[in-house]
Amino acid sequence: MYEPIAGRFDGKALLVTGAGSGIGRASAVRLAAEGGKVLVHDVNADGLAETAAIITAAGGTVETRVGDITTRDECFDTVAEAVSSFGKLDVLVNVAGIASGQHFTEMTEAAYRRMVAVNQDAPFFFCQAAIPHLLESEGNIVNIASNAGLIGQAYTVAYCMTKGAVVQLTKSLAMEYVKTPLRVNAIAPGGIESSLTAGYQMPGDIDWDLVSRYAGYRGMGVPEDIAQLVSLVGSADGINIHGAILSSDRGITPG
Ligand SMILES: NC(=O)c1ccc[n+]([C@@H]2O[C@H](COP(=O)([O-])OP(=O)(O)OC[C@H]3O[C@@H](n4cnc5c(N)ncnc54)[C@H](O)[C@@H]3O)[C@@H](O)[C@H]2O)c1
Repeated sequence: MYEPIAGRFDGKALLVTGAGSGIGRASAVRLAAEGGKVLVHDVNADGLAETAAIITAAGGTVETRVGDITTRDECFDTVAEAVSSFGKLDVLVNVAGIASGQHFTEMTEAAYRRMVAVNQDAPFFFCQAAIPHLLESEGNIVNIASNAGLIGQAYTVAYCMTKGAVVQLTKSLAMEYVKTPLRVNAIAPGGIESSLTAGYQMPGDIDWDLVSRYAGYRGMGVPEDIAQLVSLVGSADGINIHGAILSSDRGITPG
């Protein structure tokens, strides 16, 4: 069901953020299994080492970089490292993200600023750093947004705002570069089993009636559901996909 497509990324150089677990790990593992050379990035050194070990054990090519993407310098330096390791960059996959639930009036300034820095600012700076290289390689960008960027959700206002920003980052870049070969797309997952959702907590006194509306009827997906889309969109098979926000959410957003 989640079989890699051999050779799909042969000769390609890729950068995957948030690769220490969940969707980022599954994407990096798949892209490497499909022949890509992958620089994996995360703030979680242990998780990243595990991802690299999985790739290496399968015979793939991987470089690791541990860092916190909340500074512009880290985003630019990571892209520079990928280019110096592989000689070029073909695909940037912006996956790293954080989520939290709270009453709107109770989110602290520090928590708000961090969420914007990780979910919104970092993809912006990664795109800025990567685009000159992607124009040279005729490459592409795959951003991980969320169903939360497409619909309003109670108790996750800041998360929804940042994912809405990723949607607009994607669409606006798609238009700015529409006359070049660069492709820019986003995937909007619904609930996916990962450390993000496992550690997700809501205050005890929320109105669950508001939350059940976007929990969906068909349960959760797994990181591999999203990794296979990252692979499709990021590969030559995605040639006709540009400026798209592809939902993979088991029917949360249509209703
Ligand atoms: N899991 C879901 O239900 C779901 C749904 C929609 C969208 N998403 C999005 O998918 C992406 C991946 O989420 P996931 O479910 O795999 O979660 P995850 O927690 O398993 O993975 C996120 C990774 O990002 C890394 N990260 C967080 N802050 C960082 C920072 N400052 N610097 C560097 N790395 C950092 C974490 O260490 C972690 O390894 C996120 O952008 C998330 O918003 C997830």
